[in-house]
Amino acid sequence: MIQQAARDFAQSELLPGVIERDNKQQFPAEQIRKMGELGFMGMMVDPKYGGGGMDNLSYVIAMEELSKVDASASVAMSVNNSLVCWGIEKYGSEEQRQKYLVPLATGQKLGAFCLSEPEAGSDATSQRTTAEFKGDHYVLNGNKNWITNGNTADYYVVMAQTDKELGHRGINAFIVEKSWDGFVVGKKEDKMGIRGSDTHSIMFQDVKVPLENRIGEDGFGFKFAMKVLSGGRIGIAAQALGIAAGAFELATKYSKERKAFGKTISQHQAIAFKLADMATQVEAARLLTYKAARLKDAGKPFDMESAMAKLHASETAMKVTTEAVQVHGGYGFVKEYHVERLMRDAKITQIYEGTSEIQRLVISRAVLDA
Ligand code: CAA
Repeated sequence: MIQQAARDFAQSELLPGVIERDNKQQFPAEQIRKMGELGFMGMMVDPKYGGGGMDNLSYVIAMEELSKVDASASVAMSVNNSLVCWGIEKYGSEEQRQKYLVPLATGQKLGAFCLSEPEAGSDATSQRTTAEFKGDHYVLNGNKNWITNGNTADYYVVMAQTDKELGHRGINAFIVEKSWDGFVVGKKEDKMGIRGSDTHSIMFQDVKVPLENRIGEDGFGFKFAMKVLSGGRIGIAAQALGIAAGAFELATKYSKERKAFGKTISQHQAIAFKLADMATQVEAARLLTYKAARLKDAGKPFDMESAMAKLHASETAMKVTTEAVQVHGGYGFVKEYHVERLMRDAKITQIYEGTSEIQRLVISRAVLDA
């Protein structure tokens, strides 16, 4: 049912205008609002906080379907669900859940996750944003980069350094409201892909954050970010899977319509074998992503498996979309046939929420420690 609902929504609400939104770098605001009404923005959140009470597998299935059509909409969904809602539900206080999780899970408000900085991407412990403790509040100063939902979010989960001497153990995570004094939205990025997604830099200029907005104990911020990102990577794996599966479906359909040398191109082994490889890669990505989701659902460790799923699915997205363009020939190179957009969108899945190289680092440490 979830798969069908997501598929129907993608076809009826996301597909119309997706090329235009990509061209104009237009955020799918109306579509995200409807996704909130349908329960896609807080799928795994407990119904007592306004969520759908579903499992990770359901979330992954929905992410795949929506990402087949519009990865700009699905990244907003992924960040809201797995980085923001899940983090607040799992590690936030009851007061934070009531105040922030409920509107985020019901889609009335949108969330963003602020870890990356101009000089802290893969090297995420090098946080330069500071959170100075002042007794009953903190004062935030610094800059964040590449923030998804940067200008469209209402609530931001922000990592900042409270005690430099303590290194990563001196980092805290806070819930920050966009409307607070000193919160400045910086420039919008002009991107290669997911152009409908709203990516900005953010500046904090003496932003006063109440103590009750800190997530967890003093110094828990970096571990919080790592734990949340492990789950987030399952969402991005599902996004990459969807981009690949969407491109594969389009290429298969086209191959049965397009004729060359007196038969459909699907009847040429050169194309049929490409489709066989694409189908196999997509299925492997799907199984790895489902496995990571199931482990998370079962309450078992999933850090390595989510890294494997994201690594494989994002590499698959790049390969399969490139082949889908090739199957379409010249038509694949123009916007009307969607596959060139999917190819551009695929690239970011190898970069955000941990590059492919960082996933290999996480996996290699896990296998060598075992
Ligand atoms: N769960 C809990 N704790 C973890 C953890 C995990 N998965 N991974 C690491 N930690 C803990 C470690 O145990 C360690 O704590 P202790 O010293 O107390 O044991 C601490 O975190 C530091 O870990 P490391 O020593 O391993 O740190 P490192 O610097 O060598 O490596 C890293 C850490 C894995 C490279 C990490 O910095 C990382 O994941 N970098 C990539 C950052 C990233 O994914 N950014 C994405 C931005 S968000 C985004 O893209 C969202 C969007 O908008 C789409």
